[in-house]
Amino acid sequence: MRIDVVTIFPGYTEPLGLSLVGKAVRDGRLDLRVHDLRDWTEDRHRTVDDTPVGGGAGMVMRPDVWGAALDDLVTADSHVLLPSPAGRVLDQSLVEALAAEPHLVIACGRYEGIDARVAEHYAQAARLTEVSLGDYVVNGGEVAALAIVEAVARLLPGVVGNPQSLVEESHADGLLEYPVYTRPPVWRGREVPAVLLSGHHGQIARWRRDQALRRTAARRPDLLARLDPATLDEADRAALADLDGADGLVDPSG
Ligand code: ADE
Repeated sequence: MRIDVVTIFPGYTEPLGLSLVGKAVRDGRLDLRVHDLRDWTEDRHRTVDDTPVGGGAGMVMRPDVWGAALDDLVTADSHVLLPSPAGRVLDQSLVEALAAEPHLVIACGRYEGIDARVAEHYAQAARLTEVSLGDYVVNGGEVAALAIVEAVARLLPGVVGNPQSLVEESHADGLLEYPVYTRPPVWRGREVPAVLLSGHHGQIARWRRDQALRRTAARRPDLLARLDPATLDEADRAALADLDGADGLVDPSG
């Protein structure tokens, strides 16, 4: 997969050279290219912004500069991502869809954002999604680009050493992950749950599944409500019914 990131702060993406993403790039599994938007300016000051038409605070990024950059990078195969607090909130299902794309172009806006005609134009010329990290505001799209690249890259074949970790983690099946423990078996008086030391794989799997259901019910009832009832077995339903009694939580299957 190829990912192009366009930003006025190319140095912001340096952490992508570390850890699993850095290795994926070195191994040729991810073709990651970072570009300085100012390379597409034509004036001596390399200007990328201008005042908002109609007045108001701050500066807006110029459509001509972004147009020149994106014309050079976007092809019919590209999916353009515009990080924005007004976008679709990034979740694992969007990450999975993006990981199946051949080419992503992430256009990192700054200031008050990019002239709205850029999104309109490239939504016609290619596929385009405005993506939000969540309901809060950061100073620019770069931190979203880091999150998107990392979340996508770890789903590419061969990037995460043990693919089973991708199956068991939070959000993989619409639930939060169960709690994990390592040695020692007692730490500051707190014991590792006995079932995990039992060696009984069936019971361990059941305990973990119940914990995932409980945690999700307690912390993210919105996720539980969206769960496809077909993914729940009898034991899941029983676990949720138990919670119902205890916490007044709603069984998504019912
Ligand atoms: N730019 C500013 N805030 C943002 C957010 N929440 N998500 C994505 N890009 C942003």
